[in-house]
Amino acid sequence: MGHTTDFLLLLSLTGCVVATFPTQLIYQSPAPVILENIVVRPSSKLLVTSIQSPTLFTLDPGTANVTLDEVYTFLNSTGLTGIVEYKPDVYAVVTSIFNVTAAAAIRGSVVIVDLTSGSPVAKPAARIPQSTLTNGIASFPGHPDLVLASESYLGVVYEVNMRTGGVHVQIRGPALAPGPPAPPAIPIGINGLRVGRDDLLYFTNSLQGTFARVPLSGGAVEVLGNLGSFTHTDLYDDFVFDSKGRAWVATHPGALQLFTPLANGTWVQETAVGDLAGSTLLNVPTAAAFGRDGAREKRTLYVTTVVGQIVAVDTGAKA
Ligand SMILES: *[C@@H]1O[C@H](CO)[C@@H](O)[C@H](O)[C@H]1NC(C)=O
Ligand SMILES: *[C@@H]1O[C@H](CO)[C@@H](O)[C@H](O)[C@H]1NC(C)=O
Ligand SMILES: *[C@@H]1O[C@H](CO)[C@@H](O)[C@H](O)[C@H]1NC(C)=O
Ligand SMILES: *[C@@H]1O[C@H](CO)[C@@H](O)[C@H](O)[C@H]1NC(C)=O
Repeated sequence: MGHTTDFLLLLSLTGCVVATFPTQLIYQSPAPVILENIVVRPSSKLLVTSIQSPTLFTLDPGTANVTLDEVYTFLNSTGLTGIVEYKPDVYAVVTSIFNVTAAAAIRGSVVIVDLTSGSPVAKPAARIPQSTLTNGIASFPGHPDLVLASESYLGVVYEVNMRTGGVHVQIRGPALAPGPPAPPAIPIGINGLRVGRDDLLYFTNSLQGTFARVPLSGGAVEVLGNLGSFTHTDLYDDFVFDSKGRAWVATHPGALQLFTPLANGTWVQETAVGDLAGSTLLNVPTAAAFGRDGAREKRTLYVTTVVGQIVAVDTGAKA
């Protein structure tokens, strides 16, 4: 009987905990540093940005002693935000002069970093002088010269032409804006953004606590999920789609939220790693990117955190 009771108790407890996938800390910086964004190169090496450093870093998760090494240091910048590979091994990086105290950036620039040859070649692509916080950046499938960038303060999506330097507002609206101010929260609206397989733009809005989608030409925003007991310390940050079309959302203070599309068009949300109540598996995760090249790599999700960690999540196996 005792065993049966324990078993039922265990079932009801695990029923609350939901899914959780195994994690492994693969890197911890010697001193805490706010890692902001991450992409995986064709070579499987990671590229990592920090809002506290003008240096683009690389890390090889395949080595025994993982170190964070310099790839390139940008002039006229104090920190970096979004990064995206918009052509094979060619990246668009948002460089800014930041005031981390105010969480405000000025003079955001988008710079091309070409890693196709032995040494990095960087070239300014566009300036967004009206932008205070150019944050996320995404490729625009079918448009190899274009990237999309989120401006978190103004609540807009810019289309940036990497060839001509042209920048224009592609989408704006209240669903992208920071929402009601609630000091001491910093006014960050639209944050992560990605074009989905359905050619809609998916995005998170940090202060409004929403995961949503909108046609690329603008129009009606459809909210797919939100942070229910949302307190302004629980925040959606950047996210990534997997090969099944599910979205893995880095969520402050300590979770990966997994959004799965259902056949009837609704999306369900579950906590895939950690929780929203003090888990230290992920210490304020900011962004995530899947590995490349090899079955095990492709199911490994690399997550950056604000304390200088990179955590590998095995999304192919529930713990
Ligand atoms: C890893 O780094 C530590 C500390 O720097 C060093 O003592 C050790 O020899 C390194 N191991 C390898 C395999 O390089
Ligand atoms: C950096 O800023 C200085 C002063 O505004 C300017 O003269 C210089 O051209 C800038 N360099 C780059 C690479 O943008
Ligand atoms: C940064 O922002 C804070 C808060 O708004 C302000 O007090 C400080 O003077 C700013 N620092 C710089 C270097 O602009
Ligand atoms: C969509 O399907 C799920 C799972 O079958 C169900 O729980 C949910 O109520 C459905 N939603 C709508 C709006 O039909």
